[in-house]
Amino acid sequence: MKQQLEQIKTAALSAIAAAENSADCENIRVKYLGKKGELTAILKMMGGLSPEERPIMGQLVNTAKAEVDEALSAKVNEMNEKATELKLKEETIDITMPAKTDKTGKLHPLNTVLNDMIDIFQSMGFDVVDGPEVETDHYNFECLNVPADHPARDMQDTFYLAENILLRTQTSAAQIRTMETRKPPIRVICPGRVFRADEVDATHSPVFHQIEGLVVDKGVTMCDLKGVLEQFAHEIYGPDTKVKFRPSFFPFTEPSVEVDVSCSECGGKGCRVCKGAGWIEILGAGMVHPNVLRSCGIDPEEYSGFAFGIGLDRLTTTRYKISDIRLLFENDKRFLDQF
Ligand code: PHE
Repeated sequence: MKQQLEQIKTAALSAIAAAENSADCENIRVKYLGKKGELTAILKMMGGLSPEERPIMGQLVNTAKAEVDEALSAKVNEMNEKATELKLKEETIDITMPAKTDKTGKLHPLNTVLNDMIDIFQSMGFDVVDGPEVETDHYNFECLNVPADHPARDMQDTFYLAENILLRTQTSAAQIRTMETRKPPIRVICPGRVFRADEVDATHSPVFHQIEGLVVDKGVTMCDLKGVLEQFAHEIYGPDTKVKFRPSFFPFTEPSVEVDVSCSECGGKGCRVCKGAGWIEILGAGMVHPNVLRSCGIDPEEYSGFAFGIGLDRLTTTRYKISDIRLLFENDKRFLDQF
């Protein structure tokens, strides 16, 4: 019996030494010290011993139990200490690291320029109106005097979502909606995103932004158009900026003009920004075509008006000397943080 006790003890101690985790330790505790454990079983076998042997054997078993118990506790403690040490090592805080700072957002340069433009036109009495980006052929082309077979459609090769439904190619569509719902006098600007099938390069993008303006009232003339657009150019580019009106063609205006401003970079001498021309084209405009007024139920004999379309992206890239329009759409924070 003594020998058996010795064997059990040795087996228990070597099992403890080999234990790798707390689950191992728990199994050992159950196997040797538990209610049905091997050392407990030996105590129960003592009934067969003589009264003299019994206390001696009892003491031996208890000592062995205590020894195993102690070894087990020591092992568990050692394991816990190791785990804590490992955890502390993993969670070391490097107090020399730079702190995380809160980053507040700011306006995208396109929005900064747009807000400036809205301020300028609002101070001249214009309202801001919105329109849908998904338009019907009717509002995007038909009402603007561009019927299905008109060659001007080629220049605005469009993204069709379904027959007669497309991504708008110009915010002029919103002007038609305005003329249908408001009575003259009308003075509105419609800023927004427009879409055209364009190859992407430093100056072209299939998504860009326009601000179109519309004035309809009794007795509106080309003088009003010139006055408003000159005032706008002076506020955006500075009071010394020269403004040039060139004859042009748009199906929805007659007569039509394109407007250039003297290059703000070189003052008109010619440079890289204006490609040597001394002028930068900033917008298209004209007197609203009578067909357009008629398609919106406005009598062209009684009312006249002018309209203009300004490219917001070009205005933004020239103001901030941004060399590539793609930078405006990539949303790279390192780029945007500069403005
Ligand atoms: N919608 C025209 C374009 O996108 C611009 C424009 C608007 C021209 C209003 C004249 C009048 O090219």
